[in-house]
Amino acid sequence: MIQEIEIREGLDGLTPARIVTLYRRAPLLRYVDDPERVWEMFERSSLVLTAWHRGHLVGIARVLTDGVLTSYLCDLAVEPDVQGLGIGKRLIDEVLRRCKGTELVLRDSDLSATFYEHLGFERVRNAWMHRAS
Ligand SMILES: CC(C)(COP(=O)(O)OP(=O)(O)OC[C@H]1O[C@@H](n2cnc3c(N)ncnc32)[C@H](O)[C@@H]1OP(=O)(O)O)[C@@H](O)C(=O)NCCC(=O)NCCS
Repeated sequence: MIQEIEIREGLDGLTPARIVTLYRRAPLLRYVDDPERVWEMFERSSLVLTAWHRGHLVGIARVLTDGVLTSYLCDLAVEPDVQGLGIGKRLIDEVLRRCKGTELVLRDSDLSATFYEHLGFERVRNAWMHRAS
């Protein structure tokens, strides 16, 4: 099945509704009640990779990167029916290839922390966050 996965770069084939449906199902609850805002997030991202299986959207990785020093993995989501088949790893591999030379950072969740550890990510302790209101 993983051999049949097509990886696309950019917004080709994406719609706000498709993104929100995948995010609800994964689940990755990022402004899913506001598809217009979600679309804006995508339009302003530096790198969007999508995974497709027979024309169906099955995975998304969204990244902000300066291409030199730092890349931030904003979202990673895989359709639950096909989780555990290597699609998340494939998307991460493709992100790392395109962001070569930079440090890829991200925020995890209770469910996904072990996934990133399994893929060779290192836990960093010097991260800070301030909500800009
Ligand atoms: C986390 C997520 C993206 C993983 O994608 P996936 O396609 O299911 O993962 P893969 O099949 O590519 O897994 C790759 C490897 O990681 C392992 N793995 C998968 N999920 C794991 C987890 N939660 N903990 C530890 N290992 C995990 C797999 O067993 C596989 O191991 P292998 O290469 O030794 O066989 C997916 O489960 C998901 O969308 N979850 C909901 C949304 C989410 O939590 N996103 C991250 C937010 S920060």
